[in-house]
Amino acid sequence: MDTSYLERLKGPRRGVVLDGGGRIFSALEALGLERWDFQVVSTIDAARRALRQDPGAIGLVAFDGVHAWPQAELVMLLARSEVEWVALLEEGLLRSERVSPELLRNFNDFHSLPLDRERIAMTLGHVHGKAALLPRADSSALAGGGFGMTGRSECMRLIYRQIEKVLGVDAPVLIGGESGTGKELVARAIHQHSARASGPFVAMNCGAIAPSLIQSELFGYERGAFTGAAQRKIGNIEAANDGVLFLDEIGDLPLEMQANLLRFLQDKTITRVGSTERVKVNVRVIAATHVDLQRAVADGRFRQDLYYRLNVLGLTLPALRERREDIPLLAQTIFDEQRVHASPQVRGFSSAALRAMMDYDWPGNVRELINRVQRAMIMSENRLLSVADLGLPPVVDPVTPTLEEIRTNVEREVIETSLKKHGNNVSETARRLGVSRVTLYRMIDRLKIVL
Ligand SMILES: Nc1ncnc2c1ncn2[C@@H]1O[C@H](COP(=O)(O)OP(=O)(O)OP(=O)(O)O)[C@@H](O)[C@H]1O
Ligand SMILES: [Mg+2]
Repeated sequence: MDTSYLERLKGPRRGVVLDGGGRIFSALEALGLERWDFQVVSTIDAARRALRQDPGAIGLVAFDGVHAWPQAELVMLLARSEVEWVALLEEGLLRSERVSPELLRNFNDFHSLPLDRERIAMTLGHVHGKAALLPRADSSALAGGGFGMTGRSECMRLIYRQIEKVLGVDAPVLIGGESGTGKELVARAIHQHSARASGPFVAMNCGAIAPSLIQSELFGYERGAFTGAAQRKIGNIEAANDGVLFLDEIGDLPLEMQANLLRFLQDKTITRVGSTERVKVNVRVIAATHVDLQRAVADGRFRQDLYYRLNVLGLTLPALRERREDIPLLAQTIFDEQRVHASPQVRGFSSAALRAMMDYDWPGNVRELINRVQRAMIMSENRLLSVADLGLPPVVDPVTPTLEEIRTNVEREVIETSLKKHGNNVSETARRLGVSRVTLYRMIDRLKIVL
């Protein structure tokens, strides 16, 4: 265990209490908890500021029957910071609408008035210990993620752990995932955090270069190698010496180039076009693809041996819809980053906007989220960004059918089934259903049943 952790654990214990009315804060103060120092604030903005200034503090949110916190803003506050949270509630509020399930998830524990001194001292001690464990150096970079990425979901934590492992081994990496999921971001993170950080990061998009040019882009050429080759040109592999070569859209690499790349990965040497000299190059290759390479292998469009070689260390980034719980945090982070470009009156997201973002499928993943939020922040004339500002489909609450609708549906179903059973014979069907022929005809007419 590192000593800074022990120091933080033994250090002063501080809490920021967000309480609109102050009554719950008074109840907490009245307990006279030893070694604890609490600061009360009455707005979400003030809580954000206080916690930013005091990174070691834990957060407490008071829920009373009078002050209703704006849900979206509170969700953002809870989601964004690395702070550990405890909820304090007035009697009977735990099961009320004021504390929605999306809020509940963010709290370590809940205490209702009257506060139980023993129990709350235990919770706070535990939460303080947990807060002290958070690695401070990383947290300043980004509260809710790792390696400069945003996301605290289980699948993103898995990605951070995988990146961690990949850092210690100098082998090729293959990054999969839909468009906009952060493949390039991960590639850059691996470069920046590995022993190759002081070397170059050279990116090349295999899908964006004419196949006839790829050879010289990758391997370079000698002067006079072909018409127009007036100078020697260093290829991307050589340019990335001692660093990382990022091959984006590797699935688009023509088959013959795949063979050349494989040869390079095996013997770590290249030959410039127009030369016979083999040059030793020390490069780590990170490749990315948004297509299923295994299928490309099965279809004969991608070499199996190259696929295995690249995929020794493979990681697949989750689509945004597979980690919806990260959406508030991502949206808030983007919002903070873009604030300077925003219309001055824009303060945040409306609750409906937050729900719409959580509901939407995000085919363009994080990139689409960034684009929509950026655009909304510039164009909106609202204080809180709306569903329309984001250009998202409105969230429709599931409609409960009326009794009348239910009855009509049942009638239609019974009559249709019965008619079918009796070969559309109305007299027989009427007899079986216990109504007159006239009544049945009227019903057929009203329910628009086609005979
Ligand atoms: N987890 C994340 N946290 C913060 N920003 C992210 C995250 N994932 C992606 N982004 C941002 O989203 C944008 C798209 O990411 P990136 O270019 O790495 O995606 P990609 O997977 O390479 O997409 P494509 O397949 O379309 O090239 C970038 O602006 C990147 O910074
Ligand atoms: Mg990319």
